[in-house]
Amino acid sequence: MSRRRVPKEPFQIHEDDPTDLSDVETEESQTQRAEDLEAEAEAEAEVEADEAQQQLEDEEDQENQEEDEPLDEEEGCESDSSDGSEPVDFTVQQDMEKLNYTFPAFKDNYRLIKRIGEGTFSTVYKAEDVRYDRYNNSWDLDARDNQWEAPPPLKTSSSSRSNSRSNPSRRPKKFVAIKKIYVTSSPTRIFNELELLHDLRESPSVCPLITAFRHSDQVLAILPYFRHQDFRKYYPNMTVPDIKLYFRSLFTALAAVHEKGILHRDIKPTNFLYDPEKQRGVLVDFGLAEREGVDHKPCLCHLDQESRRQKIRATYALNASHAGPQPGYPKNDTRPSRRANRAGTRGFRAPEVLFKCTEQTTKIDIWSAGVILLTILCKRFPFFNSTDDVEAMIEIATIFGVKRMRQAGQLHGCVFETNIPSIGAQGFSFEKIMLWSTCRSDGSKDSKSELTDEEKGAVEFLGRCMDLDPSRRISAEEALAHKFLQIDSEGEAEAEGSEEDVMMV
Ligand SMILES: Nc1ncnc2c1ncn2[C@@H]1O[C@H](COP(=O)(O)OP(=O)(O)OP(=O)(O)O)[C@@H](O)[C@H]1O
Ligand SMILES: [Mg+2]
Ligand SMILES: [Zn+2]
Repeated sequence: MSRRRVPKEPFQIHEDDPTDLSDVETEESQTQRAEDLEAEAEAEAEVEADEAQQQLEDEEDQENQEEDEPLDEEEGCESDSSDGSEPVDFTVQQDMEKLNYTFPAFKDNYRLIKRIGEGTFSTVYKAEDVRYDRYNNSWDLDARDNQWEAPPPLKTSSSSRSNSRSNPSRRPKKFVAIKKIYVTSSPTRIFNELELLHDLRESPSVCPLITAFRHSDQVLAILPYFRHQDFRKYYPNMTVPDIKLYFRSLFTALAAVHEKGILHRDIKPTNFLYDPEKQRGVLVDFGLAEREGVDHKPCLCHLDQESRRQKIRATYALNASHAGPQPGYPKNDTRPSRRANRAGTRGFRAPEVLFKCTEQTTKIDIWSAGVILLTILCKRFPFFNSTDDVEAMIEIATIFGVKRMRQAGQLHGCVFETNIPSIGAQGFSFEKIMLWSTCRSDGSKDSKSELTDEEKGAVEFLGRCMDLDPSRRISAEEALAHKFLQIDSEGEAEAEGSEEDVMMV
């Protein structure tokens, strides 16, 4: 019988260490800090008039970008083991001055170190949390974990407060990630992101929100800094046990998010910050997230099979006079256009998103997680590389075959037809695709041209994540109970011939 081991949920945000408690203002909360800062900023209300004018100007462009110009996978991730003492880049210094101007108390609280992400909707900085000791850091799960550790050495300096800004040698620096949301983002959208993060503050494997500041159109979200590595660096070398740990962590986050009825909508490697050394990750970027059911309009996929068949038959009967779908496209299309949320990143969008399903569920995130697994197993990143949604459908159809793709379309009342000769009726199994893309199916009798048992287990799990039918696709909670995600340290060690405990963090 296998013993199930679950990775420790709390992640290490900062290294905890001796602190000078004499100065700690335990009463003061992070919320209070946000209020203080905002109040000071409001007092300087006349600043920034120029920049404020930009707000909402590009609102429409932004929405289009949200749907059609997904984020560039080349940017974002970083591997960082710096202690923040390296020289600060000139442009970051300039950004810091601007922030100090907008939020006069900013410099007393945070010291920008470097830019760690420049995305479509924000710039993210690594910063030192200068006044960490003054606040209630209940978000710091690592500190909570270590609260019963040995007491700090007694030789702490008494003049600590004045020294605390200049890197007290008594404790390592505490870091935060500061997400400066672009002024072109709509206020509703910014509020949505912060509100969802607030709702998810206790959720395991989800990066919590410490606090947020606003002055006029300027919004800063303060998150714990999470050390992680660039996906492109570690994914080619991941073993099956590594893959299990990665997905156990990702599905823990998804289960928590989905349990609250929230769809993340943008699951991809740059939004899951994973530290392969500690084998833990956190989910970030709720900029496109939404609550399930908001804006839903009935879609055929939510009907039972018989009612759906009847509706489809009726539609076909209506179209019978036109002898079914014709090649090409109608010049004057009189059909009503169908609107559905397509926000997300190209290559990670679920088939129902591509088919413009009007009743999308949390299962769209499971598909995207499946695409990450496919990427790792096939050792190709990005795996899908389409330039638009139609091409994305073609890519999926190449794997699944026209027959299954047609059924997938029908689920949402769409007709899928193609006469591209390379797309077969039946498609290919994930096993074949994995062997091809890792150049292992050369026809030789080499045992490597067959998947190992544990790889077969991974492929079976992949099939459950990348099921074209969202209602049959595995849920995050079911995934956590799936045998592929059970971590049996003894079994793994034997399989790997290693004495290391894979769960050691
Ligand atoms: N808490 C954090 N700790 C460490 N790094 C972070 C943190 N939050 C974000 N980052 C870094 O900043 C990048 C961008 O963050 P995020 O995805 O939240 O912003 P975004 O504007 O939506 O970016 P994108 O358009 O690239 O998705 C992340 O990919 C990550 O590298
Ligand atoms: Mg992102
Ligand atoms: Zn649907």
